[in-house]
Amino acid sequence: MEFNNVYKDKKVFITGNTGFKGTWLSTWLLNLGAHVYGYSKDIPTTPSMFEALDLENKCTHTYGDIRDKESLQQVISQAKPDFIFHLAAQSIVSTSYKEPLETISTNVVGTAVILDIIKDIDFDCSCIIITSDKAYDNVEWIWGYRENDRMGGKDIYSGSKGAAELIINAYIQSFISKKSNIKIATVRAGNVIGGGDWSADRIVVDCINAFTSQKNVELRSPAATRPWQHVLEPLSGYLTTGQYLFENRAINGEAFNFGPSAEQLRTVYELSSELEKRWFGESKSLIKITDNIPFEEAKLLKLNCDKALAYLQWKATLDFNHILNYIVEWYQCYYTNPTNIFDLTIKQINEYTYQASTLGINWAIENDKRD
Ligand SMILES: NC(=O)c1ccc[n+]([C@@H]2O[C@H](COP(=O)([O-])OP(=O)(O)OC[C@H]3O[C@@H](n4cnc5c(N)ncnc54)[C@H](O)[C@@H]3O)[C@@H](O)[C@H]2O)c1
Repeated sequence: MEFNNVYKDKKVFITGNTGFKGTWLSTWLLNLGAHVYGYSKDIPTTPSMFEALDLENKCTHTYGDIRDKESLQQVISQAKPDFIFHLAAQSIVSTSYKEPLETISTNVVGTAVILDIIKDIDFDCSCIIITSDKAYDNVEWIWGYRENDRMGGKDIYSGSKGAAELIINAYIQSFISKKSNIKIATVRAGNVIGGGDWSADRIVVDCINAFTSQKNVELRSPAATRPWQHVLEPLSGYLTTGQYLFENRAINGEAFNFGPSAEQLRTVYELSSELEKRWFGESKSLIKITDNIPFEEAKLLKLNCDKALAYLQWKATLDFNHILNYIVEWYQCYYTNPTNIFDLTIKQINEYTYQASTLGINWAIENDKRD
């Protein structure tokens, strides 16, 4: 059973459960037999995967702001979760230019608020705090960033994630490392793609919106290379981190990167044109290049994931073709047969798990075959 069955019948609390990653994580945890509790300010997009999968009726969900300590503390102390995954954030780089203070307040102060609650928890709890690859000071070198590289960020979103990491570390050193009932780790990933995303200024979303309305897609930075990864990849890393914390393995207080293997690097143009071919079965020439760049985007940022392999026996599963197939399959099901979308999402999770097991990746294989 995946993740050594640690999530079965456990209570798992997720902040940001209505967002793209939070929805996939909730669905995977439901599939693992967990009781999922969610806490989010709103449903961030229309349409949304959270609504399409009817997760409000499958989980115990509360609407609230991460910065509202009283409200958050009340739901956490009522639920007494075995696990907390903190994902709530203002996650869009372009929005961080329009709303810098709101971004800093949500991503930095919001993270401090949940840590302030976690430090006083009086039951056993394993906590996984999600930041970003953008937390690293991007010096635009060719090497992958390692967990002990410098935090930073030239734009507000990146700076807020770097600052959140510094605050997390200070809370761990000052309070949490002294508490035997609380285990904690931070996890960093980036450029996540997959079905079910409708957020602004994300390339896959722009492509799918254009394909469904037969309009052109305008590429801002066609030659920009990104280490694309399917959303299930970092989530398998987050769930493995939770499992290892729960099992008291020696990873308490650590940070981990989760990224794709180097061969998955592709340009924005390659990603969009390959998606177009799969969507229509041929190129429809909807991909257009524009030089209208509305905000600065960081150049190549690659993660070194050796630590995740060494400590968690984690590595990525999917190649670029599988990632594209999953994406097209998901959105085509949503737009043609939306009532099947929960089952299709579960099918993709099960297929991904099977693919990981065929590669012998630890989290996906039976207990008696594990390292
Ligand atoms: N999607 C990516 O490519 C990516 C890459 C790196 C890191 N991340 C990080 O992963 C996490 C999840 O990302 P996502 O893509 O699912 O984001 P998303 O924008 O889809 O969802 C954000 C979630 O946070 C909630 N939220 C926002 N502000 C809040 C507040 N003040 N109080 C309570 N809830 C609030 C929203 O309601 C929503 O549930 C975020 O921390 C994000 O920064 C995402």
